[in-house]
Amino acid sequence: MALTDLWYMAMPARDLARGRMIHKRLAGQPLVFGRDAATGAVFALRDLCPHRGVPLSKGRMVEGAIECPYHGWRFAADGRCTAIPSLVPEQGFETERIRVRAYPVREQHGLIWVYMAEPAVAQTAPNADAPEPPALPALPASARPRHVESMLFPCGIDHAVIGLMDPAHGPFVHRAWWWRAPKSIHAKQKAFAPSPLGFTMVRHKPSSNSAAYKILRGEVTTEIAFSLPGVRIEHVQMDRAGKAAQHYVGITAVTPVDEHQTMVHHAIYWTWPWLNLMRPVLPYFARTFLGQDRDVVAMQAEGLADMPDLMLINDADVQAKWYYRLKREWQQARAEGRAFKNPVDARVLRWQS
Ligand code: FES
Ligand SMILES: [Fe+2]
Repeated sequence: MALTDLWYMAMPARDLARGRMIHKRLAGQPLVFGRDAATGAVFALRDLCPHRGVPLSKGRMVEGAIECPYHGWRFAADGRCTAIPSLVPEQGFETERIRVRAYPVREQHGLIWVYMAEPAVAQTAPNADAPEPPALPALPASARPRHVESMLFPCGIDHAVIGLMDPAHGPFVHRAWWWRAPKSIHAKQKAFAPSPLGFTMVRHKPSSNSAAYKILRGEVTTEIAFSLPGVRIEHVQMDRAGKAAQHYVGITAVTPVDEHQTMVHHAIYWTWPWLNLMRPVLPYFARTFLGQDRDVVAMQAEGLADMPDLMLINDADVQAKWYYRLKREWQQARAEGRAFKNPVDARVLRWQS
């Protein structure tokens, strides 16, 4: 079961043009995302006409509302039914009492987030105590991703998440001259601290064995934050004497499609003019890198079909253990109607990779 009362990344904003709709399955539910032609505002509704079940995304957008292709019922961005063409005026039927479920949405930094409340609950605003969608550090509000890679992983959300935070697979899965070679494996230790919805690998100098980092000059430090439901934000900062700090931010967000499929979105931002040189090759690297993760998950799916018992070892899998603990605590806190209490303690983890 996907965690509820949290924000999930739905898609990069540029995928949804004004006046258009897109169908997305999220956490086993059918959603239609639309963008108002006039205002540019994004909305999300359950992608099912309450009349006879036709997906609303198969209809068309008319004046900011969706018109179902079957009998032309119209639904506004907040889910209210605004027109039933077959009614004669004397019938006095209150169309507005019919509603499709609306989902709170947020667009920021060129990404569209959707808030998934308890499955039974329809609400146009998040809970008062809900967290905000993940904020990206150090970027102006106008920042847009330089590249977004979205890939469907053939696994449930848990394996996508723990694959994402797994520090031990790099030299094997991401074997490449420009990144890692198995011979480069060495001992590492990293300090972690709890954060509001997860934990953070505190700011440190990146390990020296990644060729990509060697190209950069100046004082480079990086911080990697993980938050429920499955968002990883890497923030690399470069400080050079007498100059403004420059930033690179990569966000990876996993969104469950259903029990067996997960969308992984990876968006990249930077302020560093120097990195513009990378732009032509970036899609290739991003696709290769994420594709390697997807391919190993596809292999894993073959093995998981036989439902083996699995293990998590110290310290390389401690972040995965934390993820499961965070998830359990989130569910318990919701069930008991109390505030979430982060179960992760600050600690140093050691592993070889
Ligand atoms: S099924 Fe949608 S209007 Fe009838
Ligand atoms: Fe990976």
